[in-house]
Amino acid sequence: MTATYQQRRSPSATTLLVPLLVGGLVVLALGVYGRAHTPTGFAVGVAGFSAALPMKVWLTTGAFVLAIVQVVSALSMWGKLGITIPPAVHRWSGRLAFVLTIPVAFHCLYALGLQYDVPRVLAHSLLGCFFYGVFTAKMLALPKRDTPGWTLPVLGGLAFTALVGLWLTSSFWFFTAVGFKV
Ligand code: HEM
Repeated sequence: MTATYQQRRSPSATTLLVPLLVGGLVVLALGVYGRAHTPTGFAVGVAGFSAALPMKVWLTTGAFVLAIVQVVSALSMWGKLGITIPPAVHRWSGRLAFVLTIPVAFHCLYALGLQYDVPRVLAHSLLGCFFYGVFTAKMLALPKRDTPGWTLPVLGGLAFTALVGLWLTSSFWFFTAVGFKV
């Protein structure tokens, strides 16, 4: 009987080297770009929103809600919930959450850059870079069969935590400081 793939190659952390290295390079590249380029203040009007800021705030809130669906569906996939949620829910809520962040982060990086004059904005800017780095590492680690069992829960958990921090330092701040403006 031929040994299965898992039996042949025992999980080892070295297989995580490339995903973590590439993820780290993404964090660095976004951070350097965010500091090196001159913020343009460029903003596009989006139908249904009064300005770029409320658009960003609501898109980020959408990504935040989808991230919660991600965590709940992941708990179900790991048999921690006692109910079965189809894995497709996890995959698609993750993809949609990621896509919703792209126009927001594009505006943040291109129009505003990495700012550190206010602790909230510094935390936000660093979390923004970290989010894409850890997301990249998770996506690169996902197809690998010989990564340690904790890889996806830890990288998924870090991506979720970063997104919650991004939401708290931006949308939640906006809702409490400005209100539920569209
Ligand atoms: C990639 C790195 C990122 C950097 C450097 C960055 C930077 C910034 C900065 C400097 C502001 C203005 C803050 C202020 O003056 O109030 C801002 C606003 C905002 N950012 Fe980001 N951001 C990043 C990623 C993200 C991501 C990934 C999201 C959403 C998932 C996001 C959501 C928002 C929202 C909703 C606002 C508007 C509310 C506010 O002004 O705080 N940002 N960002």
